[in-house]
Amino acid sequence: MKKILFLFSVFLMCAKGHAADSDWGKTGHRATAEIAQSHLSKEAQKAINDLLDGHGLAFVANYADDIKSDAAYRKYGPWHYVNIDPEQDTYIEAEASEDGDLVHAIRKCVKVLKDKSASREEKQFHLKMLVHFVGDLHQPFHTGHSEDKGGNDIQVRWFNDGSNIHRVWDSEMINFYQMSYTELAMNTGRLSKKQKASIQKGELLDWVYESRDMAEDLYDGVENGEKLGYRYMYDHMPQVLAQLQKGGLRLAKVLNDIYS
Ligand code: ADE
Ligand code: ZN
Ligand code: ZN
Repeated sequence: MKKILFLFSVFLMCAKGHAADSDWGKTGHRATAEIAQSHLSKEAQKAINDLLDGHGLAFVANYADDIKSDAAYRKYGPWHYVNIDPEQDTYIEAEASEDGDLVHAIRKCVKVLKDKSASREEKQFHLKMLVHFVGDLHQPFHTGHSEDKGGNDIQVRWFNDGSNIHRVWDSEMINFYQMSYTELAMNTGRLSKKQKASIQKGELLDWVYESRDMAEDLYDGVENGEKLGYRYMYDHMPQVLAQLQKGGLRLAKVLNDIYS
């Protein structure tokens, strides 16, 4: 009996550890995809509906995480984040990671989706990846520092559990709310047309720098070993919602441009 209990607790620890890897978390990625879905042009809606065999963007938003443990897809691991050297300040193409990064990933997905000679399978794959990566781009710690793995090495307590600041932003705050992805998507706050247009302005690197600047502030606001709970959530949940919303609006913009 003791052995069974031990094995079960090891299983639980492994299951928990695995969940920690999942970026915005399933709910966050789906919320962003759902917001994008409701801002697609008619042309984009039709093309995407065809390509995904009738499924919506939220349905495929976690594909890029689901394939992570499959050795055949190992090379896509570094595509989920981008670390900009604080000394350099800007993203320098020539010094980017040889394994690829989030900037490379999004550019590659857009390129394949625009490429008339790419196969349907290639397009399907890169559309699913793109939906996920634009979400990742808006989780500020996915544009964090390399030395702490985007905050993964900054240990904190989340209420009474061990966690890290990356995971607090990926999933702890969102999960604490216990909202479904559709409830979250409906509750990111109303924006005027002008505000939406302003969010959709700019290009990929502008969005990367915005997320990176936000990460810098968040690094300043946490200490290794700190205990976080209600105070942190009340202070930061509005930013989480705003990031999910921005991710959705910008994903729609990228897709509408591809299918215009
Ligand atoms: N996840 C794993 N490694 C990371 C890094 N270096 N930056 C951001 N997110 C990560
Ligand atoms: Zn993450
Ligand atoms: Zn990811």
